[in-house]
Amino acid sequence: MNIQKILVIGAGQMGAGIAQVCAMSGFDVVLNDINQESIDRGMKTIHKNLSRQVEKERLTNEQKQSVLERITPNLALNEVSGVDLVIEAAVENMEVKSNLFAKLDSITSEHTILATNTSSLPITEIAAATKRPEKVIGMHFMNPVPVMKLVEIIRGLATSDEVYEIIEDLTKKLNKVPVEVNDFPGFVSNRILMPMINEAIYTVYEGVATPEAVDEVMKLGMNHPMGPLTLADFIGLDTCLYIMEILHDGFGDDKYRACPLLRKYVKAGWLGRKSGRGFFIYES
Ligand code: NAI
Repeated sequence: MNIQKILVIGAGQMGAGIAQVCAMSGFDVVLNDINQESIDRGMKTIHKNLSRQVEKERLTNEQKQSVLERITPNLALNEVSGVDLVIEAAVENMEVKSNLFAKLDSITSEHTILATNTSSLPITEIAAATKRPEKVIGMHFMNPVPVMKLVEIIRGLATSDEVYEIIEDLTKKLNKVPVEVNDFPGFVSNRILMPMINEAIYTVYEGVATPEAVDEVMKLGMNHPMGPLTLADFIGLDTCLYIMEILHDGFGDDKYRACPLLRKYVKAGWLGRKSGRGFFIYES
């Protein structure tokens, strides 16, 4: 199967990055959202990223223009046609994703592959909302998408080998590195990362060290490019809490219990970089 046209759903931080990367690799892209402001913000981010590439002489002005021309913003899913692949990057909510996949199943052609960028929800359950579970797969990009090399490719229970191979091949065409994983809570990335972030939060909660000290230890001592609390602020503390709850639900083990301090910050609206305050304070 030759993928030519890709529909990206959700123009937020992940969807905009995915649309940019697909267009830069020569694919025709439709960028859909339910919210005009999100589309405007997403397109503005893509513009800015591409202009930076032009300044660094990694892209010519003509190349920038043709990448932008390959992206069509869209607010009406029903009007989209001729799509070979959908990559869904809407909010992390099972009800939203199930409804979307049921709708996509009814409006796209029989051959269309339906991928989701979920960071923690079960692919198998999302696939069950469709009549084509063999064509449903997880494509978990990392943030920021244009910079990060990894894409975790997650097989649902029914995902076919053929679909896996098409997506693996496409990921390489996007200049990314695919890594195959199975459908378990948190996959590999968040199953390992989130308990570490949670433990860093417990370390602050129990008064062992300040957030600055925790991050400094992990950066200088473990050679991490960014401390766990800075990373948590970057991901969004609400997202971190959500993923810890998925891990706790899925495995039942106490080691996945979210730290009370994380809950408190989320309740306070301290969501990290996006709200201006999390473990650290950010200028707008
Ligand atoms: P975001 O909040 O920046 O963007 C989500 C977008 O989806 C919003 O623009 C919203 O208007 C739109 N949306 C909501 N419902 C929709 C619908 N029914 N149809 C079309 N658009 C809809 O969220 P973000 O961070 O981009 O996350 C998106 C997905 O990517 C989530 O599943 C998240 O778990 C996953 N993810 C997030 C990462 C991160 O670091 N933020 C990393 C990897 C995956």
